[in-house]
Amino acid sequence: MNVVCIGTGYVGINTAAALAYIGHSVCGVDIDEHKINLLKSHKAPISEAGLDELLSQKMNLTFTTCLEDCVNTADVIFIAVGTPSLPNGHANLSYVMSAAEDIANSLMPIHDVTIVVKSTVPVGVNSMIERQIRDKVTMRCGSDALLHFSSNPEFLREGMALSDTFYPDRFVFGTEDDKAYQMLTTLFAPIIDQTFEPPAFVEMPDPRPKTQCIHTDAISAEMIKYASNVFLALKISYANEIAGLVEKLGGNMDDISRGMGMDKRIAPYFLKSGLGWGGSCFPKDSLALLSMAKDYDYQMPIVQAAVDVNERQKTRLIQKVIDKLHILPGRRIAILGLSFKPRTDDVRNSPSVDIAKELVRRQAIVTVHDPQGLDNARVIYKNEGFIFCTDPIEAAQNADAIIITTDWAEYKNIDWKDMAKAVKTPFLFDARNLLRNELDKVKDFVYIGM
Ligand SMILES: NC(=O)c1ccc[n+]([C@@H]2O[C@H](COP(=O)([O-])OP(=O)(O)OC[C@H]3O[C@@H](n4cnc5c(N)ncnc54)[C@H](O)[C@@H]3O)[C@@H](O)[C@H]2O)c1
Repeated sequence: MNVVCIGTGYVGINTAAALAYIGHSVCGVDIDEHKINLLKSHKAPISEAGLDELLSQKMNLTFTTCLEDCVNTADVIFIAVGTPSLPNGHANLSYVMSAAEDIANSLMPIHDVTIVVKSTVPVGVNSMIERQIRDKVTMRCGSDALLHFSSNPEFLREGMALSDTFYPDRFVFGTEDDKAYQMLTTLFAPIIDQTFEPPAFVEMPDPRPKTQCIHTDAISAEMIKYASNVFLALKISYANEIAGLVEKLGGNMDDISRGMGMDKRIAPYFLKSGLGWGGSCFPKDSLALLSMAKDYDYQMPIVQAAVDVNERQKTRLIQKVIDKLHILPGRRIAILGLSFKPRTDDVRNSPSVDIAKELVRRQAIVTVHDPQGLDNARVIYKNEGFIFCTDPIEAAQNADAIIITTDWAEYKNIDWKDMAKAVKTPFLFDARNLLRNELDKVKDFVYIGM
């Protein structure tokens, strides 16, 4: 099939490349010329395991900044642009609506076309997009009979994006249009049935999973996405709330999480205590869900509590630092980790960055390091007063304290003896409990977990 993917960010590029790999002819469209130029030279604009290798395969994958170049040969058009938060918590729909507008202005349906919203959008937005495109196309072309629409929310995890795209737990197809449903199940058939040749450079779960499909209406599909993401955020906040009590009463939170997770009904994931959740999805999706509810005068105290507990984790960490250092102005503090989680260079809405910013606000001298996110951070946070360091030991030089804010595996393997020699005072705040079970490695430090 001919596929167009509007937006070549974390979701768009992984989707586009995987669909090309399984044999479709795919065109990725983005308004960001720099990204498109990189992609045209087979370079990934983001750091994601296996993506560079995938982009260098021989396949039918092209890129453009001009939607008109490819829209009229497309069988399926994905909208995979961002939906960040507005200051009031609502999702900013300007990018999805502008992508819809671009489709509406350039599409001349001469054969069946299915338009699919992959972006995470609030309930009702799929139907708004459908109305906008249908009305405009009808006005221009006289008929909208060949247009089909579906919601198809995305569940990939950054850092595992390709693995999740090739081996997803489930597909959600939200449409009441049989033709759209048929198109999507045909498009994804090799992934649904797991009949494609596994790419060697993409991690495959063992055993190779069975992918489930659920066919719903668009509203349910939209809500499945929000309800799922916010449930995961809530699980982390619950673990953090328990960890706060464990800190007072005693006990080992890792054992407690493990013990809880052995119950199939609970499952072991998202129970790790620490600095809390962040990134470009959980924070914005929880705020968007709260905003949706507020618009309809509905309270969601559980979701609100998850957000509040998550914010409290940052305050708890700062308080732990103050308890040891007493004053912050002039203190030199090394932040290890800027990405919101390991294996990604995504530093958007990262709790690590919030901590670094708060320390700068309190007049500490803040050195920062990240194995993959430094380049992005240098651009996005260039005016925040951070001192960017390419090596953890450089960040630790003469520091009054080190804080591990992202649980990069690399940080486990630092020579902590050398780090101890580099610092001025050996306070190690492990906000991700990365070394909690390997205290031998950091025995030269006063170790403070979360
Ligand atoms: N990042 C994730 O882990 C993840 C996972 C699941 C779902 N999602 C959802 O998927 C959507 C996309 O997320 P992302 O992280 O890939 O975003 P992103 O910010 O990484 O990428 C969005 C891309 O869209 C481009 N764009 C914006 N407007 C455009 C337009 N009119 N035409 C063409 N390109 C345009 C931007 O230049 C950017 O490259 C969001 O709604 C997000 O919530 C993200």
